[in-house]
Amino acid sequence: AWSQIPQGPPDAILGITEAFKKDKHPQKINLGVGAYRDDKGKPYVLPSVYQAEQQVIHQNLDKEYAGITGVPEFTKAAALLAYGPDSTPLKEGSIAITQSISGTGALRIGGAFLQRFYPGAKTIYIPTPSWANHKAVFSDSLLEVKQYRYYNKDTIGLDFDGMVADIKNMPKGSIILLHACAHNPTGVDPTEDQWRAISDAVKEGDHFPFFDMAYQGFASGDTDKDAFALRHFVKEGHFPCLAQSFAKNMGLYGERVGAFSIVTASPEEKARVDSQIKIIVRPLYSNPPVHGARVASTILNDPALNKQWLGEVEGMATRIIKMRALLKENLEKLGSKQKWNHITDQIGMFAYTGLTAEQMSKLAEEHSVYATKDGRISVAGITSDNVGRLAESIYKITG
Ligand code: LMR
Repeated sequence: AWSQIPQGPPDAILGITEAFKKDKHPQKINLGVGAYRDDKGKPYVLPSVYQAEQQVIHQNLDKEYAGITGVPEFTKAAALLAYGPDSTPLKEGSIAITQSISGTGALRIGGAFLQRFYPGAKTIYIPTPSWANHKAVFSDSLLEVKQYRYYNKDTIGLDFDGMVADIKNMPKGSIILLHACAHNPTGVDPTEDQWRAISDAVKEGDHFPFFDMAYQGFASGDTDKDAFALRHFVKEGHFPCLAQSFAKNMGLYGERVGAFSIVTASPEEKARVDSQIKIIVRPLYSNPPVHGARVASTILNDPALNKQWLGEVEGMATRIIKMRALLKENLEKLGSKQKWNHITDQIGMFAYTGLTAEQMSKLAEEHSVYATKDGRISVAGITSDNVGRLAESIYKITG
């Protein structure tokens, strides 16, 4: 029955891990997928996660189904983390929220919801470039995907004027996807002033903002600061929707913990939106897994653990900043003729090196250094031990 099926290409990001695993080089380096490693290059289970997990286990909870929208103590705390204690719609009870299969699942529920109910054109604008999976998630949700200018190759920074001009040129009432913080893949974020102007432009066009917040805490080390854009938009009277992930900031990658929420105009409107979210989720996967959500909920709801966790997030962010500086320093020491300031200027988990697809292939083939073809490297995979070899490899390829 399947003789006509063509071989598909490997995934742009997860395919890198497959290639890396096949490589026999003893000092091979994987900077592909955005997953935090400690300074020994090992996956990191946050101590707060470990403690919360022990608490969950000792409660001897049953394994009954969660409701369609997940573990309520988790979603309540997730909304508070994102929107903040001063959020008016949160206090009024007009934010609809559901647990999701991490950030990707949240985006997918959002895509399905907009496709079914958004009253305007079913077109979503994503930045150029954006996370490699955004286009697929929204096309599979049967939305049309278009792009707006975001990154300026020449300045290796934000194309702010291009972005605002494109927002102004979108047809009225367009859907626009915004990375709330730690833009993936570029590590280039608007400043707070620029966010204010972006909010104005989105409002002027009567556009619908869809925030993807996969890295809350990873940009600045401070979860409140990283939520600035979302909170500002809400304060300004937008009614955004939001995809949240706890993969990175709690290191819960494989537990798939996330949330999708929509700010509505009233508790009554929220109730109707909630009911439709349930109707979307039920035929997709019935209800989400409980373990990871219980762990996240324990961390978010226990003041002492919460404080500890915030310290650990800051610790991860700080190690990444240190690795950025070390990589730049090593490249300069080798006598590289190129400028590498962007490595330390950019924020979040990734550095957008400016290396071409050809150079990235060379890095993999000749040096066993693996990262995505767009020149993105996951700084979270750099360690004190491998940074020297990494710098040499990049130097040999770029001069
Ligand atoms: C990444 O961009 O590497 C992460 O968001 C992981 C993923 O699922 O692609």
